[in-house]
Amino acid sequence: MRKYTQVFQGTAFSSKSPKEVQILKEYLFCVNANGMIEKVVSPEDADYQPLLDAFQGEENFLRLAEGQYFLPGFVELHVHAPQWAQAGTALDIPLYDWLNTYTFPLESKFSDLDFAKNVYQDVVSTLLANGTTTALYFATVHKEASLLLAEICAQKGQRGLVGKVVMDDPEQNPDYYRDADTQTALADTEEFILAVNKLAKRVKQGVYPVVTPRFIPSCSDDALKGLGELAAKYDTYVQSHCSESDWEHDYVKKRFDKNDAFALHHFGLLRDKSVMAHCNFLNENDADLFVETGTAVCHCPISNAYFANSVIPIAHLHSKGVEIGLGTDISGGFSPSLFDNVRQAVIVSRMLEDGVNTALPAEERGVANSRITINEAFYLATAGGGESLSLPIGRLAENYAWDVQIIDTSVSSAKLPIYHAKEDLHDVFQKIMYLVRSENIREVWVQGEKVHSRY
Ligand code: GUN
Ligand code: FE
Repeated sequence: MRKYTQVFQGTAFSSKSPKEVQILKEYLFCVNANGMIEKVVSPEDADYQPLLDAFQGEENFLRLAEGQYFLPGFVELHVHAPQWAQAGTALDIPLYDWLNTYTFPLESKFSDLDFAKNVYQDVVSTLLANGTTTALYFATVHKEASLLLAEICAQKGQRGLVGKVVMDDPEQNPDYYRDADTQTALADTEEFILAVNKLAKRVKQGVYPVVTPRFIPSCSDDALKGLGELAAKYDTYVQSHCSESDWEHDYVKKRFDKNDAFALHHFGLLRDKSVMAHCNFLNENDADLFVETGTAVCHCPISNAYFANSVIPIAHLHSKGVEIGLGTDISGGFSPSLFDNVRQAVIVSRMLEDGVNTALPAEERGVANSRITINEAFYLATAGGGESLSLPIGRLAENYAWDVQIIDTSVSSAKLPIYHAKEDLHDVFQKIMYLVRSENIREVWVQGEKVHSRY
């Protein structure tokens, strides 16, 4: 019994399946020295009381106060760390113009390590304060600054998966912001992978290098091929933007006579450890290819409203067995909060199903069976993200990491409308998902370590 390093007592919510949230009322969570949940004990279990007797009152025992709940930490599958510096701006122009007039000039400044450090420290702290315990980051083309982002994740205790962005094509990228040439892009990527793998040896919660072609338009064929080979050689994660917008999708069709999915697959970039952002224009064959290769989709519902003018049919892709998680896409999406993206995912799915053009007769509006529930959106932000990354995260269950957010529904600055001590816990869960703000996120833990404390 003493073998547990820490024991936590309280009520938790965790996905059982995409549609079902499990309520673990007053459970004990026993965490070992590696920060993994070794045992989950229900009040009905015989060892509940002996465990309580052994740990209650000890320093390594935490009991939640009334009005507090455990949620799994969120798994963020698509965020541009440098773009935190422009979050909330320039959202009224098309993607191509946004990239060239705002985003590339901003990202080019990350050759300056002091500037990079300021922004990266802020973005990692901000995501942690919003309950995000694991994040899959795009950095910039700069190898040193990208490594700095991985080091900052390591220092702050966040599980970070970080990509040095590749943009080597001189025809498609501005001279002031691109890799010097294809060979340099590949050599820098390989050195980056080795450096992050070295760093990872001393990081309890894990940091991982990610092969990151920005998107097909920014990369030469040789770069895409070389990146596919590096991903295989080092068995790394891969991330990119896939079938995001009309112009990008049309560009790839013209260049390869294929959709993004098959073009990426041709270069070895669809692997079990691949996460593709957006995927708004996936057709049935593309989705089947994602299932076959184990590639995951990152749904970015806020960003898609601005840059893709699109709602991805999540319910349909789920029914086909595609792995799906959730991303903020800062700064294509303005909010650093996956709570906000959970809400947007539900809202847009309902608009997709019901249709918005009321001039049409009811039977011609919308796309049938598109709605997702709040439970499914919660799944995307937690267990779905964990499955997408093939990591034991996103659930409060045995053999998963102790990555949690402690939600306090009773803080005076952001009190949730809960008026009965015995309120139905399904209702409490829904109020949390719709109403929580960062003020309600009292503590955040990653791999058994407290990494954020608000009060
Ligand atoms: N496509 C290529 N780069 C980007 C980016 O930074 N953000 C988004 N949303 N789409 C992209
Ligand atoms: Fe993006």
